[in-house]
Amino acid sequence: MTDHILIEHPENAPGVQVIRLNRPDKKNAITRAMYQAMTDALKAGDADDSVRATVFLGSEGCFSAGNDLNDFLAFAMGGTMGREVVDFLHALAAHGKPLVSGVDGLAIGIGTTIHLHCDLTYASIRTEFRTPFVDLALVPEAASSLLAPRLMGHQRAFALLAAGEGFSATAAREAGLVYAVVEPAAVERDTLAAAVRLAAKPPRALAIARTLIRGDGADVARRIDEEAEHFAAQLKSPEARAAFEAFMARR
Ligand code: COA
Repeated sequence: MTDHILIEHPENAPGVQVIRLNRPDKKNAITRAMYQAMTDALKAGDADDSVRATVFLGSEGCFSAGNDLNDFLAFAMGGTMGREVVDFLHALAAHGKPLVSGVDGLAIGIGTTIHLHCDLTYASIRTEFRTPFVDLALVPEAASSLLAPRLMGHQRAFALLAAGEGFSATAAREAGLVYAVVEPAAVERDTLAAAVRLAAKPPRALAIARTLIRGDGADVARRIDEEAEHFAAQLKSPEARAAFEAFMARR
């Protein structure tokens, strides 16, 4: 149990389950317990016919600073990784309801790659997407190495995932990662409104349309596991450990 993930069923958004990152003092960095809570919510949403759309939201000015680097460091120092991250990624990729996300501000690491799995993403004009995997001596995750080049072409995917270039909200929209760029105050309203519209549609037809558009996901599931193997090996590398320690010691 963690209150760093809030599961909401807003009264003004019938049929919508909101998974909200709620650890603003740590820029919504995601811990193992938070991954587990999100996995549980995704699975509960899948099993609940009254949930017709799933929404990811963060805090004002911050979607997420990515994986908690303390967890990475603990693993690099010899701790166990656990299944929480990989289980979450599989639950995300396999989720059967439309996924809508709203992003305002920081979106780093999984805070960026999560949107590759979403069907509609609304980002505020001040959002920056960034995946500093290689700078941390890590590799892309969440099947981003498959989904991003498919979506935006090799060069932009390489710039994002390997070169660690930041993408503004506008650049992300041009690249196809974002559906609409809106004012910060409109992110939550527009995200929920889009989810409500989807939730009101005939669910079976929408589910079939979604699967036809996304594909069966077998390649995505395989890539999640393939990336995770490299990721775990790199986490143990001296270069990654040095990068995490540098972050911890930066002040
Ligand atoms: N893991 C753990 N803690 C994190 C974190 C992360 N990924 N990102 C931020 N935090 C914590 C900071 O340690 C700090 O905690 P403290 O107040 O106890 O010292 C708090 O969140 C605020 O972060 P801070 O760095 O002071 O805010 P900032 O506005 O100066 O910078 C970031 C924000 C996100 C740019 C910066 O924190 C950062 O680069 N974080 C790491 C991002 C990252 O590499 N993620 C992994 C991607 S794979």
